[in-house]
Amino acid sequence: MRIYECAGYDAMSRQAASLIAAQVLLKPEGVLGLATGSTPIGLYRQLVAWHRQGVVRFAGIRTVNLDEYLGLPPTHQQSYRYFMQQHLFDHIDIKAENTHVLNGLAPDPQAECAAFDRLIRDLGGVDLQLLGMGHNGHIAFNEPGDNFGLGTHVVTLSERTIDANQRFFDRREQVPRHALSMGIKSIMGARRILVVVSGADKAEAVYQAVAGRVTDQVPASILQLHPDVTLVGDTAALSKLKKEGVPLCG
Ligand code: F6R
Repeated sequence: MRIYECAGYDAMSRQAASLIAAQVLLKPEGVLGLATGSTPIGLYRQLVAWHRQGVVRFAGIRTVNLDEYLGLPPTHQQSYRYFMQQHLFDHIDIKAENTHVLNGLAPDPQAECAAFDRLIRDLGGVDLQLLGMGHNGHIAFNEPGDNFGLGTHVVTLSERTIDANQRFFDRREQVPRHALSMGIKSIMGARRILVVVSGADKAEAVYQAVAGRVTDQVPASILQLHPDVTLVGDTAALSKLKKEGVPLCG
């Protein structure tokens, strides 16, 4: 695993955006796996800026998103489809039909998940999968103890994740209890993985994921078994790794 330390959130966002832009330039018809959450907002902003400056084009790019809340329509401000439109898709030249986010209103959620796995296969697999990481080491909505062998599936959110997501809703009862999520198996199928982490509150999870045992109790620890993972973090998120002497790049 390559680990890059950046001075702060903006530097981390620029570094991660440069890796995504490089991937797009190397394979303009490629498939990007995208994530939501607060960590990638800065890197999407940077990609939009570079697109406006003519540095990078997305006209041939196809995307798949990691996850979506079950029960939220795409027009809901907290849906992940809405997030992607707002932070990236509405500001670049990507074709709408090439952006794929799970449908939170699918009448048959299991069938929606199976169709998403078929879609990823039909697209030829994911070239670069972007990931954030939860405080408990979750990736996408794969929570501690979840089966590593699953493709896209319906998940029940942990209380800790509901707590963390509550900041986006007026009341805790409004936070959806279920989501559709790519599984660990789907994520590990990507040819390259890029993880972004920011803030001291992620330091323990990052340390466990990178230097701890590979265990289903820390879903991100499975990334140690992937042959091509780059983690870009700010100094605060990497603080425990550094304290424990884990080697970083550069
Ligand atoms: C988002 C996702 C989640 C987040 C994670 C970190 O699509 O799948 O796993 O990446 O919860 O979220 P932030 O970046 O808000 O700390």
